[in-house]
Amino acid sequence: MIHGSHVIVLPFPVQGHLTPMFQFCKRLASKGLTSTLVLVSDKPSPPYKTENNAITVFPIPSGSQEGKDPLQDLDDYIDRVYTSIKKHLPELIQDMKLLENPPRALVYDSTLPWLLDVAHDHGLRGASFFTQPWLVSVIYYHVHKGSFSVPSTKHGHSTLASFPAFPMLSANDLPSYVCESSSYPKILRIVVEQLSNIDRVDILLCNTFDNLEEKLLKWVKSLWPVLNIGPTVPSMYLDKRLSEDKSYGFSLFTAKSTECMEWLNLKKPHSVVYVSFGSLVILKEDQMMELAEGLKQSGCFFLWVVRETEMNKIPKSYVEEIGEKGLFVSWSPQLEVLAHESVGCFLTHCGWNSTLEGLSLGVPMIGMPHWTDQPTNAKFMENVWKVGVRVKAEADGFVRRDEIVRCVGEVMEGEKGKEMRRNAEKWKVLALEAVSEGGSSDKSIDEFVSMFY
Ligand code: UDX
Repeated sequence: MIHGSHVIVLPFPVQGHLTPMFQFCKRLASKGLTSTLVLVSDKPSPPYKTENNAITVFPIPSGSQEGKDPLQDLDDYIDRVYTSIKKHLPELIQDMKLLENPPRALVYDSTLPWLLDVAHDHGLRGASFFTQPWLVSVIYYHVHKGSFSVPSTKHGHSTLASFPAFPMLSANDLPSYVCESSSYPKILRIVVEQLSNIDRVDILLCNTFDNLEEKLLKWVKSLWPVLNIGPTVPSMYLDKRLSEDKSYGFSLFTAKSTECMEWLNLKKPHSVVYVSFGSLVILKEDQMMELAEGLKQSGCFFLWVVRETEMNKIPKSYVEEIGEKGLFVSWSPQLEVLAHESVGCFLTHCGWNSTLEGLSLGVPMIGMPHWTDQPTNAKFMENVWKVGVRVKAEADGFVRRDEIVRCVGEVMEGEKGKEMRRNAEKWKVLALEAVSEGGSSDKSIDEFVSMFY
């Protein structure tokens, strides 16, 4: 039943942000709240409706050349996205105010904190949606407050950073921008500024669940009334008995579904290493080859997502030699893959969505973080949730093939691996509980929806 209330939802247009915010719209739809998802896109198209007309996807032009990879110049892409939103959103809100069910709130990506004032200027409530967990955002908060000094590393040993309600963290465990502030100054500014007006935000939403960040959450909730609404994984992947809510939704890439699933169907339970580095990570050619050699030496089957733009780094001779032992695809239906019983572990960059998906589907992980929030997610994955191992890299960040072989062996065959699987199964149960009727995240969604009755 759609009761007529309506919110605007605006994600930053990269896959790792679009997916959770679109899934959030679907959860709202299931509770009777309609939404307009504003999609900054380089492919102009008219607005369209989905989820029984409960979600309207409204593309606005990014100003980028169609098909241009944002990573070619991330700073330029960010500027274009900002310009596009500043130009089109106010007009769009004005138009929507004339609708029979005008919007009541703007749910914006937390990386666009200036949208709070845009919301207020138009008489809307501002809800900041954090696509990354509190364990990352709180570190940015401490950086913003200036109450933190970056740990130093000498002779391979790092001093430790201490934050309230956190385990001790070495430089290696912190979000990359914090320690390498010179590499991406613009992105560091953006991630820190997310917290700049947090005290004024009307509603705080986060793609996590209460049990997962329990200890830290006590601290967070003492400061802000947050609503954790994750994991934003469609329920049917969390519990196969549930048949509704099938579509994962909103991909900027085309998945090779049939190819992946047919290949997995032929493999024994827990025999395949699934390898994926998400939508943005670019590995250097020598690192790709080292990983490839490590996977080969591990002797395990592997399904490896290598985006089209990256495939030139894997020699054809390697693919031929590997034969049936490995399958390369440019994009996979990741949730279906993780839910498949043949998958024994997930070698991941520990992007937040991937980490949460692995954990929610009970799959042990090997963390090979690259940048941004990934090192901190990997630290928690290994040491707090205890569902996997993190590869040990050399001082320059390079991961040797022997280390890949060691980690695959530990997770796929060792006693520790069995324990990790048991822990992962436990998190799977808790994730399902959180989103099921009456669970903590379900209640948070109810609370959000009730604000618009
Ligand atoms: C980015 C950042 O890199 C990440 O650290 C941050 O937490 C969110 O934004 P990304 O690198 O793309 O995201 O990684 P991730 O957060 O894991 O999101 C990737 C999404 O793409 C996941 O939902 C995953 O299921 C999906 N995916 C990935 C596929 O559907 N198929 C694939 O083959 C690979």
